[in-house]
Amino acid sequence: MSDDSNKIPRHIAIIMDGNGRWASKRLLPRAVGHERGTKTVQRVIDLCIEHKVEWLTLYAFSTENWGRSEKEVKALMSLLKKYLRDRLSEMMEKNARMHAIGELHMLPEECRDIINETIEATKHNSAINVVLALSYGSRQEIAHAARQLAMQVAAGELKPEDIDETMLSQQLYTAGMPDPDLLIRTSGEMRLSNYLLWQISYAEMHVTPTLWPDFGREDFVAAINDYASRKRRFGKR
Ligand code: IPE
Ligand code: IPE
Ligand code: MG
Repeated sequence: MSDDSNKIPRHIAIIMDGNGRWASKRLLPRAVGHERGTKTVQRVIDLCIEHKVEWLTLYAFSTENWGRSEKEVKALMSLLKKYLRDRLSEMMEKNARMHAIGELHMLPEECRDIINETIEATKHNSAINVVLALSYGSRQEIAHAARQLAMQVAAGELKPEDIDETMLSQQLYTAGMPDPDLLIRTSGEMRLSNYLLWQISYAEMHVTPTLWPDFGREDFVAAINDYASRKRRFGKR
């Protein structure tokens, strides 16, 4: 007997890549590519709701992305502000809940404020959980978790031999969230770029050559179908 409920990933994580290439192909500034990328975000949230995907985690800005030009970083930060401000009513309408993971203290104060407002305003929404990874780096996240546990040990609240996987998971920014079932990367790059290294241990991977601004319904359905065709074994037979 087949159980179709297993065929839809409960949690999709996406590395939204290719905005810059999309823009340079058209001789446009990179910021235009990022702007178009935000339209794809809205489209993909709608597709997830339609397919009853419960969690969607989007890599929006990595720790390493701080190393881009000041101009591009500024453009990305103002786009983030604009996106959250413009889309709040739509998120409420669609019953979408927002979360954020990453070194949020690194973000400009105005961005942090609007992120916190959006998280607070959407906290009772339940159609989908949208997690924005901002100033996010997986190694930094794991190092942070290790520091938290070390402090508890130093304070005498925890014994080193009691530290297990669950305890470490609970110190990650993703504490309380299910692990991703499907990881999608757009624009063809076969790498993880410091994204959710701990959490995607058993995620299925789908890489598409489509650039993020062009990612549409067909690409989404192809990713879902690819996932449904996989046999997940989790190390067992
Ligand atoms: C992804 O697009 C968005 C961010 C990293 C913020 P890129 O800006 O990496 O686009 P490419 O990879 O240069 O095409
Ligand atoms: C990963 O893409 C980060 C985001 C999508 C936000 P990058 O374009 O920064 O990654 P690399 O440089 O190709 O590894
Ligand atoms: Mg890129």
